Amino acid sequence: MLTLGIETSCDETGASIIRDGKKILSSVISSSLEFHARYGGVVPEIATRHHLEVIAYVVKDAIRKAKVKLKDIDLIAVTRGPGLVGALLVGISFAKGLSFSLGIPIIGVNHLWAHIYSGLIGKPEIKFPFAGLVVSGGHTNLVFCEREGKFKSLGQTKDDAVGEAFDKIAKILGLGYPGGPAIEKAACEGNADFLRLAPVFMEDGSYDFSLSGIKTAVLYYVKGKKLNKKLRSDIAASFQKTVVNCVVENAIKVCKAKSITSLVVGGGVSANKYLRRRLSEEGDKNGLDVIFPSFSLSADNGAMVAAMGCRLYKKGLRSGIDFSAEPNLGI
Ligand code: KG4
Ligand code: ZN
Repeated sequence: MLTLGIETSCDETGASIIRDGKKILSSVISSSLEFHARYGGVVPEIATRHHLEVIAYVVKDAIRKAKVKLKDIDLIAVTRGPGLVGALLVGISFAKGLSFSLGIPIIGVNHLWAHIYSGLIGKPEIKFPFAGLVVSGGHTNLVFCEREGKFKSLGQTKDDAVGEAFDKIAKILGLGYPGGPAIEKAACEGNADFLRLAPVFMEDGSYDFSLSGIKTAVLYYVKGKKLNKKLRSDIAASFQKTVVNCVVENAIKVCKAKSITSLVVGGGVSANKYLRRRLSEEGDKNGLDVIFPSFSLSADNGAMVAAMGCRLYKKGLRSGIDFSAEPNLGI
C-alpha cells in the first residue's frame, strides 16, 4: 500500500511516499526558512505563499524519487493541525483535490502525533503503550500513547515551547534564526556552568513545563552587557543545559510515575545532540528505552504524516472530504 504524506503546517512543504506505513520511498522538503530569517521568526503570510508556490513540485518530486506513478497511490495523508491556518489550508486543499481526482481516500492527521510517529518508522519492535515527547518550535508535550490513535496528554508547556525558547534566546544573543541549531553550535564551545539558571518545575504535581522564567533571567543578565563570542557561548551552553534538564527531568519523572518503559521523542528540538545524550543517559539509569527519529525526520516532514496516516487507516480511520484546518488542535 502506497501512502502520500503532505505536510504544510509551518515553514516546510513536505511530501513523502511510504510503502505499507514502514518503508520511506521518498521524502522531499522545501523550506521557506531563508525568507523568514530577516524577521527573526516565521511570517505566516510568507510561509503560506511559499507552500502555494512549491506544493505541486514537491509532491511531483516525491512521486518521481519514489519511482512510482500517481495512479499507484492508495491513500493521501495530510496534516490538519495544529499550525498556521493559511499554511495548513494549502496542504489540505491540495490533498483533497488529489484525493477527489484520483478517487482515493484521504486522512487528516494531527501534526503533534505525527512527530511521535516519525520515531516509529522502520522500528516494528516498538510496541504500544509508550510515552511520547514532542519538542518543537510551537509545542512541548508529554503524551501517553496508549494504542494506535489513542493519545492522552500528560504534560505541556505553560508558556514558551522548547524550540521557541531556543529561538528567542538566540535572538537576544544575536545568534540569528533559527535559534535551535545556532544555540547548539555556540554551546559546544561554552561553559554550561557559567550562568546559574533555575530550572522550573510545577508545584501542583503536574508534569507541565514553564520556560519563560529562564528566558527572562537570560534577558536581564544580558541587559547592558557587551556580548563577545565567549560570553555568547557560555550563556548559550548554560541556557541549553537548564532547559534540557527541565525536559529530561520531567520526562523521566512521568515515565517512572506511570511505569512506562519506552519514550519516543520527536520534533525539531529532538535534533539537539545534547538533549539526545542527556535523555539517553538518564533513560539508561532509569530503565527507560529512549527512541529518537533519524536526524532527517526530527523536523517537519511528509514521511511522518504518511506513516501515521497509513497506520491509522489500517485501523479503520479516515476523514470525510469536509474536514478542515484546525490551527489550535491539541494532543
Ligand atoms: O518541529 P519543527 O521543525 O517545527 C515545528 O513544528 O515547530 O521545530 C522547529 C524548532 C525551531 O524552534 C528550531 O529552532 C528547533 O526546532 N531546532 C532545534 C534544533 N534544530 C531545530 N533546537 C535545538 N537544537 C537543535 N539542533
Ligand atoms: Zn513540527
